[in-house]
Amino acid sequence: MDETITLKVDPDEPDPELIERAAQVIRDGGLVAFPTETVYGLGADAMNERAVRRIFEAKGRPADNPLIVHVADREMLSTVAAQISSRAERLIQHFWPGPLTLVLKRGPEVALSVSAGLETVAVRMPRSKVALQLLESAGRPIAAPSANASGRLSPTSAQHVLEDLGGKIDIVLDAGPANIGIESTVLDLTSDPPVILRPGWITKEALSEIAGPVDRTRSEDRLRSSPGTRHRHYSPLARLVLAEGATGSDLQRICQELLTQGPVGFVGHTDIVIDDPGFRKVILENSPEQYARSIYGAMRFLDECEPVAIVVEGIADRGQGEAVMDRLRRAASWREPGQHR
Ligand code: TXA
Ligand code: MG
Repeated sequence: MDETITLKVDPDEPDPELIERAAQVIRDGGLVAFPTETVYGLGADAMNERAVRRIFEAKGRPADNPLIVHVADREMLSTVAAQISSRAERLIQHFWPGPLTLVLKRGPEVALSVSAGLETVAVRMPRSKVALQLLESAGRPIAAPSANASGRLSPTSAQHVLEDLGGKIDIVLDAGPANIGIESTVLDLTSDPPVILRPGWITKEALSEIAGPVDRTRSEDRLRSSPGTRHRHYSPLARLVLAEGATGSDLQRICQELLTQGPVGFVGHTDIVIDDPGFRKVILENSPEQYARSIYGAMRFLDECEPVAIVVEGIADRGQGEAVMDRLRRAASWREPGQHR
C-alpha cells in the first residue's frame, strides 16, 4: 500500500457516504483507523483472520497481545462472546456505550489471532458516533487496538496515527481530538470477583457500585492473565522521568540537572521558568481530565526535539487520576535493554 487516505468527518454528524466508504474497506479486509472517545483505534473485520493479522503487521505488535473487539449493539455482541452473565448484563446496561472493555468467554467465529490463543475475548461498545456508525455500516464487529506503532504512545488525533502508521493502513477517519485521551478500563469477568486488568476512565469504585466487589490485578498476575501488559507500553521516545510529590523548586532542579546533558522536555501543572534554549514545556491544568486528554499529545510534541529526558509532574493518584498515573508509571519504568537515553 502506498498512501493512507484521510477522510475528515464531523464528530457529531459524520457524513454517511464517507463512513460507508470506510466500512467497505473493513468488509474487504482492509485497515481503517477511526476515532473513539478514548483514543484512535486501528480497525479490521474481527471475523477475518487475514485482516486481523494485518493489524499486527502494521503496528509491529507481538502476536501474543490480544485485541479489543468493538461492537455496535447487543446482536453484534452475541456473535463475539459466548456467555453473558447477569453481572455482565448490569455493567453493559450501565456503562455501554462507553470506555469500559469486558473480558468474556469468546465466541467461535472470532478470528483466532484476535484472542492470541486465549479462550476469552475483550469487547467494548464505544460511545463515539463515528465509531458506532462505522460499526453499523460495516455490519460486523471490528477488532481494534490503539492506532499507534507497538510500544509507542496511543494516538489522540489523526495526525498521531499518520505519524506512526502512514502508508501502512488504508484509511484514517479524522474527527478531531479524542475526548477522554486515555484507553478504556479493562475488566476481566471470567474470574470471580472480576479483576481490573487495566485501570481507565471508569474507576474501581464506579464498577463496584454496579458489579459488587472487584479486584485490582497484582502485577505478577497481570502478566499471566493479560499477556499484552508485559510488553512495553505508552512510552515516549525519550526517557521519561516521573516526578511525584515534587515541589516547584524540586522540578526546577531536576530539569536543570538534566539540561547539562542536552535538551529537556517538561510537562506538568507547575509553570517552572528556565531560560535555556534546550528547555521546552507544556503546562496543563492540575486535573485528571486535562492530563488524560493532553498527556500523550504533549509527550509526542516534546519528543520532537529529541530530548535527553521528558520530566513529567504527577497528579493525585485518586479516582480517574489513577489511570493517568498508571500510564505514566509504566512509561517511566520501562527501559529498552541497553537503552541509554
Ligand atoms: O480505549 C481502548 O481500549 C482503545 C480503543 C481503540 O478502543 N483500545 C486499546 O487497545 O487500548 P489496545 O490493544 O491498545 O489495548 C488492549 C488491552 C491490552 O492490554 C490487551 O492485552 C488487553 O486489552 N486484552 C485484549 N484482549 C484480552 C483478553 N482476551 N484477555 C485479557 N486482556 C486482553
Ligand atoms: Mg495500545
